[in-house]
Amino acid sequence: MDARFYTFVGGETGLWQVEEVRSVRGDGLQTPRCLDLQNTHLATLPADAVWALRGAASHQRYTTRAEQTALAAVQAPLGRVESVCAALIPIRKNAAWWLLTQDERRAIFEERSSHTTIGLRYLPTIARKLYHSRDLGEPFDFLTWFEFAPEHRAAFDDLLGALRASEEWNYVEREVDVRLVQKEIMEPA
Ligand code: HEM
Repeated sequence: MDARFYTFVGGETGLWQVEEVRSVRGDGLQTPRCLDLQNTHLATLPADAVWALRGAASHQRYTTRAEQTALAAVQAPLGRVESVCAALIPIRKNAAWWLLTQDERRAIFEERSSHTTIGLRYLPTIARKLYHSRDLGEPFDFLTWFEFAPEHRAAFDDLLGALRASEEWNYVEREVDVRLVQKEIMEPA
């Protein structure tokens, strides 16, 4: 299977311990004990898992060259040792959004909602990755993933407040906020 495919499994195993699962809009998700990220498209729910969400790493849709350059200059990689906090935020946009054309969506996303401009202020504090799910027939269109150090929890909430107050979020019909902390890594004796 193609390396672009990923599955987030909510269940009994995984690097991440679930702190809270909160429905922001629409139906929520059950609260599992742990979250596991697998770099494969899992067709069936593993034993002991309560849900599995699948997505693919994909190309950029809206980013301009200038924005890409600005992002590349400051963005941080996933997996930093100090980033022991994470958030998985699955999002589905409504039919009205998907009826828009590419230029109309870009205008709402950036010219009117400043998504990238706002987000850039939080780099490199927050590391991020976007997975696309819509064309896989999944319940969400996007799986958004963020990692940060514990002292940056408030900054992350601040970022969410700014994005959720934007015009783009008028088109969000389902959003679940899954907060996670990394399980303690056992040091060899
Ligand atoms: C950490 C700072 C952030 C930055 C720098 C950032 C930047 C971006 C960029 C550049 C894109 C466009 C990718 C493309 O060209 O296709 C994007 C898409 C997206 N971001 Fe963010 N973002 C940030 C935070 C967030 C947060 C906190 C959320 C969720 C609560 C979020 C949700 C999304 C979604 C759902 C998309 C896909 C939108 C669509 O294609 O309709 N982002 N982000």
